[in-house]
Amino acid sequence: MCHFIKKIFFVTAFTLIAMSACNTPEPVYVLDKAPLIPLPSSVVASDEVMPLGAIGSIRTIGADERLNAITQNFINFWKKHTQQDLLDAVDAIDGDGAITIEIDKSFSPEQEAYKLEIASDKITVKGKTTEGVFRGLKTLEQLVVLSKLRGGTLFLSLPGGEITDQPTYGYRGAMLDVARHFFSVADVKRYIDLLSIYKINFLHFHLSDDQGWRIEIKSWPQLTEIGGQTEVGGGEGGFYTQEDFKEIVKYAADRFITIVPEIDLPGHTNAALASYAELNCNGKATELYTGIEVGFSTLCVDKEVTYTFVEDVIREISEISPGPYFHIGGDESHVTPEKDFNRFMSRTLAIVKKYNKTPMGWYELITADIPEETLLQYWAKTEDFSKVIPKKSKILISAASYNYLDMKYDSLTPLGLSWAGYLPIKKAYDWDPLTLVPDLDSTQIIGLEAPLWTETIEDFDDIAVMAFPRIIGHAEIGWTNATLRKWEDYAHRLSFHGQLLEALDVKYHPATEIDWK
Ligand code: ACM
Repeated sequence: MCHFIKKIFFVTAFTLIAMSACNTPEPVYVLDKAPLIPLPSSVVASDEVMPLGAIGSIRTIGADERLNAITQNFINFWKKHTQQDLLDAVDAIDGDGAITIEIDKSFSPEQEAYKLEIASDKITVKGKTTEGVFRGLKTLEQLVVLSKLRGGTLFLSLPGGEITDQPTYGYRGAMLDVARHFFSVADVKRYIDLLSIYKINFLHFHLSDDQGWRIEIKSWPQLTEIGGQTEVGGGEGGFYTQEDFKEIVKYAADRFITIVPEIDLPGHTNAALASYAELNCNGKATELYTGIEVGFSTLCVDKEVTYTFVEDVIREISEISPGPYFHIGGDESHVTPEKDFNRFMSRTLAIVKKYNKTPMGWYELITADIPEETLLQYWAKTEDFSKVIPKKSKILISAASYNYLDMKYDSLTPLGLSWAGYLPIKKAYDWDPLTLVPDLDSTQIIGLEAPLWTETIEDFDDIAVMAFPRIIGHAEIGWTNATLRKWEDYAHRLSFHGQLLEALDVKYHPATEIDWK
């Protein structure tokens, strides 16, 4: 009856009649059928119903400074989506009519675990850490948005019940290549916002390549004055000042996303070689490069100035990167002889450690003498990978044929490349990082990362249409236990997320694999 009246209301707008007949509208989803992505570890629905109008305040227990920033962002979210102000009720003793955010150190051993409880008159989000609480608030936000998109703004109720949740992998990453094409701070922030909806927690920035150097290095200013001034196709390029970079790091940190800076060495360095003649073995600067072929450039491994350069770059970037990793590339260094490559890498890895970062690199690093804690990023099928990989090394899975967001969806996709095959939505979702690379020990795999190389990607809409929806499935692989993941169920849940993206004005690939709502 209530549901029926609500329907009539939407059609005829007889607000008062509907309101008096139906004070607590039915939620549009039962909690355990809500199309949440990533799928939580456990969802238990109750028959309670929570009208959003019943919530008037937010209170925090165990707050720290980061929690205060998150709470403020959540108050803004609530206002935008419910038109209601949440009063800050730090000292309230009773949680009725409130959203309570609680940090409880004894809650779980897991950093990102949370519990979200929705009762008829209150909502509670609890975590061991501020990060856990943040992930829980993201689940609550997704539930509000999905409910609103299905049910309309007025008479919105949430379904009651309890979600307990934690991630499978501690590293759930995306990578953005800002070297082939440059993207503004605003574009990067927008990508970060979208990634945070789906609980991605690392953003790897590919900051230098043959086509462009994208970060200010104060001791080597020509890197950006010369090397930053073009991009694939000959456009004007660009770069981040160190202040820009700090702004991005902070913006990401407020969304519990850690920035991983990458300077690709010793190959993929034409932009640096064009900026400084002395980095070349023949002492002559190269021409700037705007094509897309790879593997032709190398720093001069025998010159001492090369190591001064490498150390200055690693030092300056480490000083503005609070995250644990520094990525030194190492891929496709085809014109660096192997013994030179290994010698270069041994010195460079020591420099990374000197600046208190954990070294990270593409899997080609395995030929060098790498410190045990080096994080190796697996990207391509290779005969030797599982044979030569040190058994103690940690591995990040970024397989080109499953994770590369620049691979075309199919033969009709206008953007992207296809050297690793087409990557439709199902293929990008329906696999398991534990079994992808033979002979890897499950304890070695710390997670997965979805790179977006930008040879053909020129603006934010291009980023969006290649990333979405595949990055959403990628986020679920990283978060949700493989035993809970089923393609049909995922495809059904995903079908509701096209509306969510449209509401944010985000382009996505509307593949017919999905029965979009
Ligand atoms: C890579 O795709 N060259 C890491």
